[in-house]
Amino acid sequence: MRIRHLIQTSDLSNDEICEIFQNTANRSDLITEDNKVLKNKRFITIFFENSTRTLSSFEIAIKNLGGEVIRLDIANSSTAKGESIADTAATLNAMQPHAIITRHKSAGAPNFLSKFTSCPIVNGGDGAHAHPTQALLDLYTIANHFGKKIFANSNPIDQCLRGLESLRGKCIAIVGDIKNSRVANSNIELLMRFGVNIILVAPPHFLYKTRLKVSHNLHQIIDEVDIIMALRTQTERHNTQIYGSLKDYANRFCITKELLGNRDIIVLHPGPVHRNIDIDDEMFSDPRCKVLEQVQNGVRIRMSVMEFLCNKT
Ligand code: NCD
Repeated sequence: MRIRHLIQTSDLSNDEICEIFQNTANRSDLITEDNKVLKNKRFITIFFENSTRTLSSFEIAIKNLGGEVIRLDIANSSTAKGESIADTAATLNAMQPHAIITRHKSAGAPNFLSKFTSCPIVNGGDGAHAHPTQALLDLYTIANHFGKKIFANSNPIDQCLRGLESLRGKCIAIVGDIKNSRVANSNIELLMRFGVNIILVAPPHFLYKTRLKVSHNLHQIIDEVDIIMALRTQTERHNTQIYGSLKDYANRFCITKELLGNRDIIVLHPGPVHRNIDIDDEMFSDPRCKVLEQVQNGVRIRMSVMEFLCNKT
């Protein structure tokens, strides 16, 4: 059997995404005694960059399915002693884990790791390149929102899959530091495949050359959109300070309740949120803001992703 990695969203076909979503929608409870499909399997998490939700979400997902997690503490690992990432990968692989979940500041690191391992590599974010499970959980959250709204009387699986179909022709504004965002990259690839129209909204220095629709003004596009995805300014990826201050940025790009008015628009953010810069306090506690729902869906999606990769490998 060929080893299946999840390094970018394009590693999964649309049918496979439907399979993962179906499995996710089918989970009534996160923890069940009879669903320990990862029992007797061991997983290594090795995050070379900071993380709160992605790392804990993967670890909880694996434990919910009965798997064991060994978290490599980077500060105390041999990487800190100068070992190359290839040697670290080969060493970990020799311990025969069932998968390695990794995050790295360099784009391409998980792909590189996969050359030295014989188990699935799951990308928890590499530089500004990709963050596939984040995009999957975002798409799942969006599909479920519309599914529940339009097909209120259907069962959860139908709501999810029909919700996914209903996204064709809907419009999302992705707002913020798009140029440096792996979340934006992965979402763009995935959302386009499911027929969602995309508008990138940012100051010019946060954008790249693109064929997608671009705007520098939230007010100009607000009546076109069904979904807004706000992003954090990725200061750790900026070589120089390229804006006056985050407050200047917020004056033009913060998602506020005033901006949304009573429009039927949902707001997503991958976290961590810069409050009152990316999303204001009032909007954050509005039911249209799906941030905590995204976190909850993140565990479910990662359970299904880990189950999927272990079954296919
Ligand atoms: C994002 C990341 O690390 O790429 N967060 C996350 O994984 N939920 C986004 C960010 O750091 O801004």
